[in-house]
Amino acid sequence: MGLEIDYIYGQTPITEEEKEGLMIQTISNRKELDEFEQLNIETAVEWSLKQKFTAERILTTKFILDVHKRMFNKTWKWAGKIRTSNKNLGIDKFQINQEMKVVCDDCKYWIENNTYSDEEIAIRFKHRIVSVHPFPNGNGRHSRLCADILISHVFNKDVFSWGRFNLVKPGDSRKKYLEAIYVADNGDIRSLLEFART
Ligand SMILES: Nc1ncnc2c1ncn2[C@@H]1O[C@H](COP(=O)(O)OP(=O)(O)O)[C@@H](O)[C@H]1O
Ligand SMILES: [Mg+2]
Repeated sequence: MGLEIDYIYGQTPITEEEKEGLMIQTISNRKELDEFEQLNIETAVEWSLKQKFTAERILTTKFILDVHKRMFNKTWKWAGKIRTSNKNLGIDKFQINQEMKVVCDDCKYWIENNTYSDEEIAIRFKHRIVSVHPFPNGNGRHSRLCADILISHVFNKDVFSWGRFNLVKPGDSRKKYLEAIYVADNGDIRSLLEFART
């Protein structure tokens, strides 16, 4: 395989087998991969902007997998499929399916009971998804789009700005984003909530 990826801090490496799922054989490095994935992701964002989804529709494993599929279907053969390898992040591969349902059900409960503010529900949903880490790659970007879909379709609010800078490349924004994620891992969602609206 010709793909050489230089991993940056906070990324999950993909296995050789997962690399073989790359659909464009001319992509040889991370920069080219990032650019190609970005074009693919834009088609998913356009799709999400054209529709109107209810909470019942969004909060299903099927929908969450479909979002990933639409983001990466031109790039990776395993787009929209739950990972079959374990990672340094996320839960055991055999528990993903069941845990996704738990995440969806918890989120439905928060909405029905106004457990948190609208923004906090969307950010908690995002953090739970990325903590499960359902896919070999794209988990960060996928979880952010899921939060954007929830906040805009269910709560009729603007999508998040996520620090306004490119979070895929190393830099201050990505550093702040990851720091906020680590704080959220320890149970305090406030920094991530604040980051998402800056
Ligand atoms: N400790 C952590 N807890 C939860 N999520 C994390 C943690 N560390 C990193 N992440 C998330 O995982 C992402 C990396 O996973 P990856 O599948 O490579 O996503 P992407 O390709 O979209 O960057 C990071 O961008 C971040 O969103
Ligand atoms: Mg990645």
